[in-house]
This record gives sequence, C-alpha cells and structure tokens, in this order.
Amino acid sequence: MKKIVFALSLITIMVNTYGQKFDNLALTPPMGWNSWNTFATEINEKLIKETVNAIVESGLLEAGFEYLVLDDGWMAMQRDEDGKLYGDPDKFPSGMKALGDYIHSKGLKFGIYNCAGSKTCGGYPGSRGHEYIDAQSYADWGVDYLKYDWCYTEKLNAEGAYMTMRDALYATGRPIVFSICEWGSNKPWEWGKDIGHLWRITGDITNCWDCEIGHGSWSALGIWKIINMRKDIRKYAGPGHWNDFDMMEVGNELTDAENRSHFVMWSILASPLIMGNDVCSVDKETLKTLTNKEVIAVNQDKLGIQGFRFSNEHNIEIWLKPLSNNEWAISFINMNDKPFNLEFDWLKHGIGDDFNRRNIDFRNQTYEIRDLFRHELIGNTTESLKTTLEVHDVLLIKLIKKENFD
Ligand code: GLA
Repeated sequence: MKKIVFALSLITIMVNTYGQKFDNLALTPPMGWNSWNTFATEINEKLIKETVNAIVESGLLEAGFEYLVLDDGWMAMQRDEDGKLYGDPDKFPSGMKALGDYIHSKGLKFGIYNCAGSKTCGGYPGSRGHEYIDAQSYADWGVDYLKYDWCYTEKLNAEGAYMTMRDALYATGRPIVFSICEWGSNKPWEWGKDIGHLWRITGDITNCWDCEIGHGSWSALGIWKIINMRKDIRKYAGPGHWNDFDMMEVGNELTDAENRSHFVMWSILASPLIMGNDVCSVDKETLKTLTNKEVIAVNQDKLGIQGFRFSNEHNIEIWLKPLSNNEWAISFINMNDKPFNLEFDWLKHGIGDDFNRRNIDFRNQTYEIRDLFRHELIGNTTESLKTTLEVHDVLLIKLIKKENFD
C-alpha cells in the first residue's frame, strides 16, 4: 500500500513539475492592439509599422497598450524546406525578425498568431505536429505573445493541445504570454490557469451593442451578448490568468456612448484590453476614451478581481469591481433607448462581494465619490447619487474611503 502511495505521489510531482507556463507574466490584464477586427488577413509591413507609430504618437503606448499582435494572415501559405514558418514575402518583405525588431525599437512588444489545428482559421499552416519548431521560430523573432486558435482541430483534446504548445514555448526559454483562443468550447477557465495567461470565453465579437449574427456553424456576438453569456465565471480570473472577453470593438462604428460603456465593461471585467480598431484613423473622442487612465487603472488594479453585476433595475446595469486600498469601481449603464434620470441611494444598498469577502455598510462608513470620466470628486455616500444617463452611456465612479482624505 505504502509503495502505491509513494508511486502515486511521485507521478503527481513529475506531472506538476514537468510542464509549466511562464510565471510572472500578465499579472494585470494584457493591453495592446490586434489586427483582426479591422483588417482580417489584409495586413502587411507598412500597415503594421504605421500602426506602431500611431500607438506611440497618440499616447496609447503611454496609456499602457504595449502588445502589437499580428493575427491570422501573416504567414506564407506553406512551410519552408526545413518545415519552418515564414512571413508572407509579399506582405512582409523584410521578414518577421525585422518586424519584431521594429516593434521593439518603438517600445512595444510583439505578438503573433497561430492555431492548434492543421490550419489556421484563414487556411494558413497550423502548428499541429510542429509546435516545437514554431515556438522556436517565435522565440528567434523576438515574439512576446502568442494567440493560439482552435480551427481544424478535429478530435484533438483541447487541454492537451494547449499544454503541448505551452511546453514548446517554455522550452525556448523566452517568456511569451500564451493567449488561449478556443472560444470557450471546452471551458478553458476550468483548466487554463496552469496552461495560459488568458483564454477566450466565447466565439468572435462583432461591432454591435447586443446583436448576434449567425454565420452557419457559429455566431458573432455583440458586446452585451458576450457579457451576459459569461458573467458567471469570474472566480476563475486573477493575476496571470484572465477571462478574455475578446478584442475590443471600441471605435468600430459604435456611438461614443457605446464606446465608453464597452471600454468600461471590459475594465470592470478585468478583461485583456486589446484594441481592434484602426488606430491610424482613430477619432478624437475614441482616443479620449481609450487613453482614459482612470478607467484603465480600474482594469489594471493589482488585486486582479473580475467585477460582477450588482443589479439591473429599470434597465440600468450596475456593476461592481473591488479595488486595492479598499476602493471600489461602480459602473451605471443605461440600456434604455432614452435618457434616464438615475437616483441611487447608498443607504438603501449594501455594496458587497461575498466571494471575495468585501463589504461596505454605508450606515457607518462614508466614501468619497470620484467620477472617472470627469476626473473629479462629485460627492460622498451620505447623499443619493443623482445624474442623467444618456442612451447607452455610462457613469463610472470610484468609491474612496473618507479617512483616506483626512
Ligand atoms: C478565429 C478567432 C478570431 C481570429 C480569427 C482569425 O475566428 O476567434 O479572433 O483570430 O480566427 O482567422
């Protein structure tokens, strides 16, 4: 009996110590830009360099958007004679290493895409059976982030397939953020923590408030479809392992109010903040939203607690996110198609997060209220909060304990 217990313990130790992901990466949700939502496979060296320059010059890098992620369509249609991937020579004539060097020279990090199956979703060579050789190419090119998709995988076991790539990345010795993109089909939140740093939780996003667009075997999902579908898996997220609500559609034909609300929700949800718009032609209002450092600070809070729905009364979505220093972020979003006069009486609402054992009783604790879009204090919790919310617009506030001011 003792021998069996000993053998089992040995196996457990071996399993636990053999494979591992890079620790100490993505301790806050990764921030960056990805080419897919706007450009699909129409990407090239010139576009990527212009995007890098725009991210630097517009202040987006300074605000924290550091990963430049090339999605599907970057590679040649076949491998070279050594079985290695290489960039499409028409789109990327200088090659991937040179592109990585350019991205790094401007202070950004380099992200790239491939797929666990035999082909990528766009039909380019997938990594199945080539995981180690591909991981080494990425490391040689200076890649810092890999988005790893789930097309053409037939009967592959998801956990095993992602583990193989994790181990291949780890074997290169280069710290690479591993972004699992299997659309939530096999509940990656249940097994992804030791494998990747973030995992997609649904099929692809599309640029609408709450629509669903069928594409035969799958549907593209609007912002609120994604939120509502996966609002109950918050306990799986935390520093180094995030629920990925998908690349953002901020700036992609939503109204300014919807852009603000979408950005706030991704921040409250501690989702990776990966822009999916054309940053070279971004308008002033969208840029203002994307570079709002107080909203970003909610997303990047070091506790890494994913927020949750507090209530939805009168079609006003109220979401909470506990922050460090015993502060709280609270968003109020008007889902109605007309303006709404909000009145929120703090004394009638206990704010609490039972899962994380954090609560406020407003009868004996007073908090100052800071508006994170107006960037000023707007009162405290002894009085009701009153404001008008425009259609699909958001009020995002932070509650700061009164003694922190005294
Ligand atoms: C899948 C992913 C998308 C994108 C495309 C590329 O649909 O979910 O995010 O990467 O593939 O083909």
